[in-house]
Amino acid sequence: MHTDQSAVDLRWHLEDLDFSSIDSARVRGRDDIFLLVCSASFVESGSKTYAQTLVDYFAGDTEVGEWLSQHWQAEELQHGRALKAYVLQVWPEFDWDGAYADFFAEYAKLCTSEELEPTRGQEMVARCVVEMGTTTYYQALNAVCDEPVLRDLTWRIRTDEVQHYRHFHRYFLRYQQQEKLHRPHVLAALWRRVLELRQSDADIALRHAAAWRFRGREQAPPYDAIRKQVYQLMSAQYPMEMAVRMALKPLQLSAWLQRWVERPMAAVARWALLR
Ligand SMILES: [Fe+2]
Ligand SMILES: [Fe+2]
Repeated sequence: MHTDQSAVDLRWHLEDLDFSSIDSARVRGRDDIFLLVCSASFVESGSKTYAQTLVDYFAGDTEVGEWLSQHWQAEELQHGRALKAYVLQVWPEFDWDGAYADFFAEYAKLCTSEELEPTRGQEMVARCVVEMGTTTYYQALNAVCDEPVLRDLTWRIRTDEVQHYRHFHRYFLRYQQQEKLHRPHVLAALWRRVLELRQSDADIALRHAAAWRFRGREQAPPYDAIRKQVYQLMSAQYPMEMAVRMALKPLQLSAWLQRWVERPMAAVARWALLR
């Protein structure tokens, strides 16, 4: 019986994962995998604060409000719980709660309404970019890890993120009509959110995960070196064409134009990511 979230119809549950069959030997010594899983667990767990800000922003829109609070938020929090459980199973000595408290103190400052887009339609564009980011993150993480339970978990989460993207995109289309948003408005929202991706929650999470992971360890590597190692590992498997396709979708370019810009944009984005 699923005791938590009983009112919510989740696509999968924590109990579906067989944590007892984790092949710890494959991952326990991997600082990079630890940091990727742990930082993701922080961001997902922190979505509780962000979700309320979003729900407030869409007050009066029952359909969006209900989906946000009953599905989206419940799923993001489940991602956080599952990733945390994985971290504690493989690295039981890690003080997850202590590290998370540090992360949250910094992250909570980002979750104010000033960080939201000026209109609801543009906020939906921003949400599409965020869900594109998580979809591609978990797809890359799935490809770089070879521990079966972690592969199972990352793929389940990736599937949820794709569904989130689809919902936000559908709501974007509705608000685009209502607000009569033109391409420059959409492009502006896209641009703002894409720029934020590099200096946002994921980076704060990675910094705190690393600080707590290497705390007290002699010869702890400098943070810049850790960050570079983790980025390089992920970028080798990062589905950049898919990321660009998902990011451009709200612009509703014609099929030929989309095809024409996709590859050069993916090349530029790949270069920017590796700098
Ligand atoms: Fe998530
Ligand atoms: Fe999501």
